[in-house]
Amino acid sequence: MVWEVIKSMKSIRGLISLFISYMIFQGWAVLFVIFGDAWMKGIGTAVITFWFGPGTPTIPIILIVALFIQRYLLLDSSNQIHLKEKWKELNAQFRTKNKNFEGAFTMIYEPFELKNLKLKNRIVMPPMCMYSADTNGYANDFHVAHYAARAIGGVGLIIQEATAIDPDGRISINDLGIWDDSHIPGLKRIADAIHQNGSVAGIQINHAGRKAKVEHPVGPSSITYGGDYLTPREMTLEDIKKTVQDFKLAARRAHLANYDLLELHAAHGYLMFQFMSPISNHRIDQYKDGRVYLKEVVEAVRSEWPKEKALCIRISAYEYVKEGVTPEMIADAINQVKDLGVDLIDVSSGGNILVKINAFPGYQLHLAKKIKELTGLPVIGGGLITTLELASYAVASNQADLIYLGRVLLRDPYMMINQAKDFGIEIDYPKPYLRGKK
Ligand SMILES: Cc1cc2nc3c(=O)[nH]c(=O)nc-3n(C[C@H](O)[C@H](O)[C@H](O)COP(=O)(O)O)c2cc1C
Repeated sequence: MVWEVIKSMKSIRGLISLFISYMIFQGWAVLFVIFGDAWMKGIGTAVITFWFGPGTPTIPIILIVALFIQRYLLLDSSNQIHLKEKWKELNAQFRTKNKNFEGAFTMIYEPFELKNLKLKNRIVMPPMCMYSADTNGYANDFHVAHYAARAIGGVGLIIQEATAIDPDGRISINDLGIWDDSHIPGLKRIADAIHQNGSVAGIQINHAGRKAKVEHPVGPSSITYGGDYLTPREMTLEDIKKTVQDFKLAARRAHLANYDLLELHAAHGYLMFQFMSPISNHRIDQYKDGRVYLKEVVEAVRSEWPKEKALCIRISAYEYVKEGVTPEMIADAINQVKDLGVDLIDVSSGGNILVKINAFPGYQLHLAKKIKELTGLPVIGGGLITTLELASYAVASNQADLIYLGRVLLRDPYMMINQAKDFGIEIDYPKPYLRGKK
């Protein structure tokens, strides 16, 4: 039984570190007895007595029971294991069906069109906070250089990091801001730099809700995210109305700053997602149905964001715990609003509860596929994808229409232009860099 529990924990490292901590604890007790004064000797002796007495069996048993509860009662672990198997299975199917990979592999370099978006390939740089704005949320030279580099590097669509619609809705004090008209010129510099270097510019707008690093965060309910996050104040109807208005004004400013795509951050446990998840939303008014807030935001944003421009929603389709959202719930919420003018869904997972995610390359792709199937909308999928082969795989096997590459693009902004040749693709290499072309 104990062995079964240990095996189920998957992480033997966790057990070893617990054991080491336990031994260190005992080691201190011995040192106390040898070198300590009378008080310390007393404490040390008590600990050692406990160690040789009831402590020996009880402490490891308590640890194992705690981990058992965590894994079997809180974590939806069966699903995580299932995902890995499923992804392997999909790869295997794809391999047998496509003996010749040549065509399929190059798919990542194929263009994609959606409304005003004319993407030269299927790779998306997802929003990634750089925490590099000044404390008033203004963009600076770093942001321009950072996004321009990925545009030069041949990324099809660049979605700028979470940009705060309200200073009290910032993830950090150094978030980019879009809560004031004075932010527009700095943001326009970023969008223009992306355009000038041949890519398409998106922006993610966000309110962090209970995950905002401010003195008095707000959320749908007065429930903390945990860790060192504060307990939020439950939002009044006035608070809710104000955030809807802030999203709307942010959409207007994003348009004036020349972005091509607007992405609403309804993932990773930020405000929009907090309304959708039963974990963070315990309201008893009309907003207990998370779809109500989503609908109000989409309507408000659409009244300012031109209808010919694409609107995207980033969602967490799964929370890895039994009481969290499911892809079906999220798809249902999207289906309620898609006719208001939602064009694209950016699929992610987690972020609303502190839980260990068993991540592996492609671990969220089945969620993207599910959302695509259930909503009929094109999707961006990704997560831990670091090679263009795997990205191509994912598109060719219909997991997603577009693939986001996050951290790998922080390491290597030029992977799209530099690897094209390996895929037998001729691309417009940036002229100033031609003499460096492999
Ligand atoms: C430094 C960093 C900042 C991030 N900031 C955001 C963000 O602002 N908005 C968002 O939706 N996701 C954010 N993410 C998540 C990424 O967009 C992406 O979903 C995640 O890194 C998984 O993709 P990857 O494995 O290819 O990196 C961030 C990730 C990183 C590494």
